[in-house]
Amino acid sequence: MKYKITLLPGDGIGPEVVSAGVKLLKYVAEKFQISLNFSEELFGGCSYDKYGTPLSDKTLQTCYDSDAVLLGAVGGYKWEDLPHHLKPEAGLLKIRKSLGLFANLRPAKVFKSLADSSSLKREVVEGTDFIVFRELTGGIYFGEPRGFDDSKGWNTMVYLKEEIERIAHLAFKAAQRRKGNLLSVDKANVLEVSQFWRSVVSEVAKNYPDVKLSNMYVDNAAMQIVRNPKQFDVILTSNLFGDILSDIAGMITGSLGMLPSASLGSKYALYEPVHGSAPDIAGLGIANPIATISSISMMFKYSFGMDKASELIDEAIERALSEGYRTKDISMKADDKIVTTEKMADLIIECFEEIFNEQSLGVFTL
Ligand code: IPM
Ligand code: MN
Repeated sequence: MKYKITLLPGDGIGPEVVSAGVKLLKYVAEKFQISLNFSEELFGGCSYDKYGTPLSDKTLQTCYDSDAVLLGAVGGYKWEDLPHHLKPEAGLLKIRKSLGLFANLRPAKVFKSLADSSSLKREVVEGTDFIVFRELTGGIYFGEPRGFDDSKGWNTMVYLKEEIERIAHLAFKAAQRRKGNLLSVDKANVLEVSQFWRSVVSEVAKNYPDVKLSNMYVDNAAMQIVRNPKQFDVILTSNLFGDILSDIAGMITGSLGMLPSASLGSKYALYEPVHGSAPDIAGLGIANPIATISSISMMFKYSFGMDKASELIDEAIERALSEGYRTKDISMKADDKIVTTEKMADLIIECFEEIFNEQSLGVFTL
């Protein structure tokens, strides 16, 4: 198999974590005998500096011509005062919409060896393993009318039936492959758009009799994630609620530096670490590459259909951590072995190699 990958390293620590991730990506591709072709483009603040826009047509075209996009991070103090439509964040919304990336998958999995770095007690978080399916190209982020004048500001939360159906199908399918529980989160006690959301999701549920569907209001869900995160399997929700809930979910796992994401559409897919560009530590070589490496694991699973490679990457991360290796951001103990971005990626590659040999995978045929 041959795949075209577009790299958008972006700003701040983006280039460092992407280059560490790509090293692993190339290594795993070789092990599993797939061929990858890379293109690299500017995106975010660095693109603004060169072309006066966070997302140029050239970058977008390269994404259209690829099977998967790997994004580092965008933004930084330097571009904070730009007008709204020129900020790196505007580029992010535009790339999501242009590539039709309607489903944003954000897994919240607590690594055993990191359970103590959560702000919650180990007993509460250990064993947490759920995934948020956040609708990404609709809802209040994109609804019209929108605007503000001297006396008011307004946005519109609107969902078309098809927009709800397509992400619901993906979430139900994921629940089938997991523990069979899907929770749809809304605010149906107040918002009509949520009542509609709930009824469409219930209709879609009829196609998946093996999945148990439940519903929860978003305020309760926020509270439940902190109270007992182990109760969740798949959470399906809208753009704004998913933005908020995925940050809460992320924090219980200990470090934002660990969290991957996949944004999927019917044609394109983009993978990116959830963390930001961290301009304060950019260029120091100390950023955590694990979120990017986990995002690459998602790429193997969702873009290449290679579940085995994805599992091995996840196991390799777990093994490197269990051996005591840490980047600075996730170090808790004096005897942790603190390593650089690049070293962490190399260690994960070594662990991958070990696991690969232990399982005598030899040449893995697809
Ligand atoms: C995220 C971010 C973005 C969002 C911002 C930067 C536009 O918070 O990816 O969660 O709100 O979607
Ligand atoms: Mn967010």
